[in-house]
Amino acid sequence: MAETADEEVAARAAELREFITYHNQRYYVLDSPEVTDAEYDDLVRELRQIEVDHPALALPESPTQSVGAAPAGLFAEVRHRVPMMSLDNAFTEEELTAWGERLRRQLPDVDVDRLDFCCEPKVDGVAMSLTYVDGRFTQAATRGDGVTGEDVTANVATVRAVPAVLDPTSGPYPHHLEVRGEIYMPTADFAALNARQEAAGTKTFANPRNSAAGSLRQKDPAVTATRPLSFWAYQLGEIDGLPPEDAAGARRAGAGPGRWPPAGQTEVLALLGRAGLPVSPDIRRVRGISAAFARCREVAEHRHDLPYEVDGVVVKVDDLALHDRLGATSRAPRWAIAFKFPPEERTTRLRHIEVSIGRTGRATPFAVLEPVFVGGSTVGLATLHNEDQVKAKDVRPGDLVVVRKAGDVIPEVLGPVTTGPHAARRRPPVWHFPTACPSCGGPLTRLEGESDTYCTNIDCPSQRGQRVVHFASRSGMDIEGLGERRVVQFVHEGLIADPADLYALTPDRFEGLEGFAALSTANLLAAIEHSKSRPLSRLLVALGIRHVGPTGARALARSFGSLQALAAADAGSLAAVEGVGGVIADSVVEFLHNPANETVLDRLAAAGVTTTEPGVRFPPPGAGAGGGGAAPGGGVAGVPPAGVLAGGGPPQTLAGKSVVVTGTVPGFTREEAEEAILSRGGKTPGSVSKKTFAVVVGEAPGAAKSNKAEALGIPIVPAEAFAELLESGELPGG
Ligand code: IVH
Repeated sequence: MAETADEEVAARAAELREFITYHNQRYYVLDSPEVTDAEYDDLVRELRQIEVDHPALALPESPTQSVGAAPAGLFAEVRHRVPMMSLDNAFTEEELTAWGERLRRQLPDVDVDRLDFCCEPKVDGVAMSLTYVDGRFTQAATRGDGVTGEDVTANVATVRAVPAVLDPTSGPYPHHLEVRGEIYMPTADFAALNARQEAAGTKTFANPRNSAAGSLRQKDPAVTATRPLSFWAYQLGEIDGLPPEDAAGARRAGAGPGRWPPAGQTEVLALLGRAGLPVSPDIRRVRGISAAFARCREVAEHRHDLPYEVDGVVVKVDDLALHDRLGATSRAPRWAIAFKFPPEERTTRLRHIEVSIGRTGRATPFAVLEPVFVGGSTVGLATLHNEDQVKAKDVRPGDLVVVRKAGDVIPEVLGPVTTGPHAARRRPPVWHFPTACPSCGGPLTRLEGESDTYCTNIDCPSQRGQRVVHFASRSGMDIEGLGERRVVQFVHEGLIADPADLYALTPDRFEGLEGFAALSTANLLAAIEHSKSRPLSRLLVALGIRHVGPTGARALARSFGSLQALAAADAGSLAAVEGVGGVIADSVVEFLHNPANETVLDRLAAAGVTTTEPGVRFPPPGAGAGGGGAAPGGGVAGVPPAGVLAGGGPPQTLAGKSVVVTGTVPGFTREEAEEAILSRGGKTPGSVSKKTFAVVVGEAPGAAKSNKAEALGIPIVPAEAFAELLESGELPGG
């Protein structure tokens, strides 16, 4: 049936949008990616194809339409008046030559063979915009989505390579001078930092890029100051108010070397260098595309001799007048291209193959390698995914294997070295998937027609531990300081076996435990206590119910309002919720009615964990608010009836109204402001539309939202009037 096929495509597109947005967040905002670049690219490619084939599904908010991720809200928003664009890529000589041919077509009067190109190492760090006003550093902002970035001035001010004042002897400078470049961490400093972090038992970083990004994202600049960050300048951004004598010079005869505005990219770099901004010494100007390619190859060959990570060479047309003529597409300029290096490969010894057990019981084989530095970090472990993959790759313990990491974060074992002097003459014996769980000793089973193998023992300590790890993770209850290492330690010590055990922990249980001083115990217990207030939607994600992601959890929580109402609902009424299909509904019913899960849920509720969603007053018809009559097993005991919520919450002044908040409202964190709206029955969509009731404009608001509100004639409420809006539900003063 055509209709069903269309529905399936639409559902897949929605799913892909959600995946990509999630992974954007992991990569750009949390600096903690979960998939390889290649896997991410596949998702984007699939979504792009769907959007090409079904233009009706190409929504303006699709992640295919933007660069990176929107700011995370920890820092104030900064609007880039000149957008910070991305670059198109070339992976082969042919692709670079094809770019040259495009230039030839776009510039028919220019001899492209005699054109100068500026070849710059593509440093793998974090793109940064620096503003200097009258030669003084005033602001640093990240790229964000290209239009709106984050204000990281205080943190960047601690980076020694970023001068506070431009060299006065090389001035005067434009009154407003925006310099763009890359904050990066030199490779050796990255390794040393990771070693220190490791020794201190704190978070280590996957690679220098993540490390730089994480260091910039600190609430406390004093932390950033301890991180070995550096900076390369490579571009001009917004410029306003040329120095007087140069402006006159420019009018007379075009600018000469050392004058504003510069005429070529090489001159830009020279000016920046003279101003005291660091410029990479590895930049070369060459003539013609073949020479540019030769330079790319040269840098690729010597990439490991450079003291910083590079993932390619940026080739730029040198003549800035041609930049204006060539212009840009919606995401990248036509006058530059990034020549990306082929994925980096290294060989190392495969010591063992081991199997880890995840929270669902899935047994994943992984390679234990002789540590090898590849793709910017030392790799000792690499996933082998499943039994079939091990067979297909034919890797065996003892083999010399090829490991790849490209600018990726997740290392991959490609296969054994089979040719050349290092190929083994006699292969070691074939590895067999174990039949017993390495954690509990129970049987491992693989179902017919499936590629995954499972430990089916629900009491398996590994599964238990991983369930708690997921429960406490950022996307779950977000319990700070409770990472995998500690959970495994606690499970091992017998302190906990399931999420509910966390809420029964007392200070005396930590006595004598390695790495636990009184202070860290107090901090951890406070973080656990704090997590009790997370809304039901977060709890649903934290429980790790199969197929239930943040979007599905929110839809369920908002429709049913309480765990009790959810538990009392049948699969049909769950599936009727928008965004929740039959698969999710069945999975939720199965989970909530599993007796072991019911016990854990009862204990969570009894411990005071929130089991309701703020802002949801009445259970929907048929949801069975009366106390679980429909649910086998009697629903969840210990959960306050939904009616209590109706009486206990704030008055529903904003029922059904959409209120968008931009910027910071004094006295509220972003989450608190949103919760305040939600708990009064309002909605808080991420963007302004015709349906928006009001836009609350706080400090350092995003220009996009206020501009759109103005364009659509949506009422603007100043931050001072936010409380009044909450209380009355009416537009203040109106
Ligand atoms: S030019 C519109 N030059 O690569 C011009 N970018 O894929 C865009 N990058 O966001 C920037 N080294 O973070 C430029 N020498 C260089 C670069 C460079 C690294 C990064 C930068 C940018 C990304 C684009």
